[in-house]
Amino acid sequence: MSATLAEMATEVLNTADGRAKCALSRAHAAAWFATRAGKGEPIAVGQAAPPSHPARPDRPELLSPRDVPRRRPGSPAGRIALLHAVAHIELNAVDLHWDIIARFGHVPMPIGFYDDWVKCADEESKHFGLVCDCLEAMGSHYGALPAHAGMWRAAEDTADDLMGRLAVVPMVLEARGLDVTPGMIEIFRKAGAAGAVAALEVIYAEEVAHVAYGSKWFHFLCGRVDCDPKEVFHDLVRRYFHGPLKPPFNEEKRAEAGLPPDFYWPLAEGQQSPGG
Ligand SMILES: [Fe+2]
Ligand SMILES: [Fe+2]
Repeated sequence: MSATLAEMATEVLNTADGRAKCALSRAHAAAWFATRAGKGEPIAVGQAAPPSHPARPDRPELLSPRDVPRRRPGSPAGRIALLHAVAHIELNAVDLHWDIIARFGHVPMPIGFYDDWVKCADEESKHFGLVCDCLEAMGSHYGALPAHAGMWRAAEDTADDLMGRLAVVPMVLEARGLDVTPGMIEIFRKAGAAGAVAALEVIYAEEVAHVAYGSKWFHFLCGRVDCDPKEVFHDLVRRYFHGPLKPPFNEEKRAEAGLPPDFYWPLAEGQQSPGG
């Protein structure tokens, strides 16, 4: 294998079809971890020129959030729409994790940084497949419904700022997943949808580590420049994230992921910003 990890990441970003993107993502992750375990030639991290936007399939149609029809999870169609939205989030997450590898190759980081994001990308690829399997078992598929445009906004906003990327993507967006997933699992449990419950339970269990990796490397970078992580986090989220954070928060899982309450509560809806 002569490609660098950054080139492998870019190749995933440039693959449009969801299933194909995830298959390539999983193959590249397996190759990375095989060489990390001492099998074959080591893969250099390297640098690459990732696209400003990842390639995406023709379907789903991407709409502004206000134009996406509202979901009513009480009906089978509503539950399909909810899973379709989760599939869209997972596919976006695959790209986000490869993008952090490809885009910030100029920032020297320990090898464990790459191990963590390759593992996350591999898990998101698995999550996308699990949710697609559920959709197909329910007679639908990814692409059958419109999905949110603008999912890539956080990546664009933080394309030049690794600490901003860590603050907004794993520590805000993926942490939000920890808040809302238990309620989703309940919806499918009440509907007797065992397959969806099983898929969401895998996602819920694995997402804690994604938030934790964000917190770990955010603290690492703060330590490198000797600044207060909590203050920097508040500054970066206010700069790059549009709007307040929405309680209720899953304080237990956030704590497990290394996110203490004084990180997120001051940014919550209804809280006054210091001095404001
Ligand atoms: Fe995921
Ligand atoms: Fe994740």
